[in-house]
Amino acid sequence: MKDSLLCLHFILCIVYLIKFISSSPTVVDCPATSLIRETKNEICPEEQDYIHGKLTYLGPKLNTFFSSLKTVDFDSETLELLQKKPPIMGLAISGGGYRSMLTAAGFVMEMDNIGIFDCLSYISGLSGGSWILMDLISQEFNVSSLLSNWNLNDGLLKGIPDFDIHQNDIISGMNEYNDVLVKRMVPLKDIPRSIFNNFEKSLQLAAFLLEKKDEQKGISKRGIGPLTKFVDFFLQRTNNYGGGREEDFDDSEDSLFGSIKSLHQVIQFYIDLHLNVRPKKTKGFTVSFTDYLGNAFKKQLGNLNNQSSFSKLVMTSTKFQNFEAPIPLFIANCRNKHLRDVIFEFNPFEFGSWESKLGLFVKMPYLGSNIEAGNPSRCINGFDDIGFITATSSSIFNNILIYIWQLTAQSSRETMKAIKNIMSIFGLGNEKLDEENFRQVSLNSLDTDYAVYQPNPFYNYPSIHNELTQNDYLYLVDGGEDGENIPLRPLTIPQRNLDIIFVIDSSSDESNYPQGKKLKNILYKLQNEHTDSDSYSIPNFDTINQYPIALGCNQQHLPIIFYYPNAPHSYNSNTSTFKITYNESEVNGMLQNGRSIFSLSSNSRHIDCVGCLIAKRSIENVNASRMPKICTQCFDDYCF
Ligand SMILES: *[C@@H]1O[C@H](CO)[C@@H](O)[C@H](O)[C@H]1NC(C)=O
Ligand SMILES: *[C@@H]1O[C@H](CO)[C@@H](O)[C@H](O)[C@H]1NC(C)=O
Ligand SMILES: *[C@@H]1O[C@H](CO)[C@@H](O)[C@H](O)[C@H]1NC(C)=O
Ligand SMILES: *[C@@H]1O[C@H](CO)[C@@H](O)[C@H](O)[C@H]1NC(C)=O
Ligand SMILES: *[C@@H]1O[C@H](CO)[C@@H](O)[C@H](O)[C@H]1NC(C)=O
Repeated sequence: MKDSLLCLHFILCIVYLIKFISSSPTVVDCPATSLIRETKNEICPEEQDYIHGKLTYLGPKLNTFFSSLKTVDFDSETLELLQKKPPIMGLAISGGGYRSMLTAAGFVMEMDNIGIFDCLSYISGLSGGSWILMDLISQEFNVSSLLSNWNLNDGLLKGIPDFDIHQNDIISGMNEYNDVLVKRMVPLKDIPRSIFNNFEKSLQLAAFLLEKKDEQKGISKRGIGPLTKFVDFFLQRTNNYGGGREEDFDDSEDSLFGSIKSLHQVIQFYIDLHLNVRPKKTKGFTVSFTDYLGNAFKKQLGNLNNQSSFSKLVMTSTKFQNFEAPIPLFIANCRNKHLRDVIFEFNPFEFGSWESKLGLFVKMPYLGSNIEAGNPSRCINGFDDIGFITATSSSIFNNILIYIWQLTAQSSRETMKAIKNIMSIFGLGNEKLDEENFRQVSLNSLDTDYAVYQPNPFYNYPSIHNELTQNDYLYLVDGGEDGENIPLRPLTIPQRNLDIIFVIDSSSDESNYPQGKKLKNILYKLQNEHTDSDSYSIPNFDTINQYPIALGCNQQHLPIIFYYPNAPHSYNSNTSTFKITYNESEVNGMLQNGRSIFSLSSNSRHIDCVGCLIAKRSIENVNASRMPKICTQCFDDYCF
């Protein structure tokens, strides 16, 4: 027993150490200039400056690319023209969990390989696509080290197994009423109970340890319930065997010590999460599941050290300072009573929405400040945590966490209790969560499954009267919950003036492959927004059998959309959205396939056509007859 006490104290010590090295929001002086900007159809001055610098950097860089093309010959005057007014390019990465992250990573590597990744002015990501952005930023935009820290072998959330739920079920469920979600989920009987056993035990133990820690008295008097007995057993085992070499453990499923070891890791994982989130809560900020998910992402990327402010990470990166990096845009949706599906954007300079329902942005470094009617009363830095922002964009994965907690609760009183303990320690406690109605609880009563942004920077803003400004909090949700799933709309903002947008779509329309449905949704919305003549025509995706396709080739005032759907070129890349572990050969297969999607399996004619499409707007704006003749064939082949 004494040994087990020591072991417990050892865990607690580590836990307290962790507390001091994690970063959290801090109070700072408010600047003299306003923190809120009305969009007034303009991009902010910092973004203007960046794009200006980018275009200067781009000229010579693109020149190298255009000169490297095999069959397309731009004459020297045309090259000069392209240097003077280089195209503004963007890349949009869809949602789709690790499937999307891995596919897009391969796609990005291949873009880098042919020398055009650095030429992108913007890169937008949503849900699984936002994980790429987070990784890129943590790698200081070095594509060569992309995903090098991400441990895909180890699961995103420890103790939660892979299982297949169609993303559509969740999205459409969420779009109606929240409690529809639960009904539409996979029937319980389809998920083998055994896969939850470890998770269940670790929850119980994590709850127990957290409870003890919060009492701060070590082990106090407590009935010898089954849980306590289990904990004693666990601690004795880890004490006897855990101090030795790790490889003494056998990891196979049926090994008792193997499972104890993995249990130990799972518990430590959740305790760490709790301690990383706690400073934010201690400082009086509301925390939500999104904070935990965000810290789970940060644990994947060990190289963030103690700096995790999105704006700071980007601004201090050398590549960004030299205009070699694209501006990253994280996309989320809102969920406030009746007002839904308003797209929000996080860029390194600002957070807000272009849509007319808001039309406001707040300076990114000051997110989390108390601002009322546009006037700050207390200013904060460091609330713009990159893990939190990424988790906001991909908060559909919160629902999985909650869902599994609900599942595990249905058969075990102990787990039920453990969950309640954990949730109350996390500050998510809710009296509605008692045993009887835990099952029926609609996610509505658990507002904490949304990403909670409190304080709301747009609170009581004078000219806007709707749910986005009425409360001192904003609820944000997964960027894919409006059924769009491709972060395309922020790139079509006219003020951004893009010439071409590459899209890598790993949505799940059928068998975890896309069939253009999400793109179609967006094109319809764009048509409604721009009722004037100039808008994209909408293809019948059922009849297209050759990809990629380019949309809007002849619509001078719109960016060309160059759309690449995920497809099996060299690997069956239709893995489930909720597959959260990949072994090495699976990772390599997915990456290689992502590369092949962009290069069409290293087809050099295709790369030449990419060059034609990139140059199209710039050349036509000056003198269309300068377009090399060979490009005509490309436009015939790709333009819809
Ligand atoms: C990115 O590349 C630069 C130059 O090669 C290097 O100095 C820097 O350490 C790299 N950063 C990361 C996070 O790998
Ligand atoms: C982050 O780490 C650096 C040194 O590694 C230290 O100087 C700084 O105080 C730390 N910041 C915080 C907020 O802990
Ligand atoms: C992948 O696609 C094939 C058909 O192309 C389908 O049979 C299979 O079930 C799909 N796999 C997943 C995990 O969706
Ligand atoms: C990786 O997973 C695949 C199944 O997707 C399996 O066939 C293969 O044997 C695994 N490889 C290793 C090294 O575990
Ligand atoms: C446009 O380009 C063509 C072919 O390069 C050239 O002959 C013509 O003079 C150019 N026209 C103008 C107005 O520059």
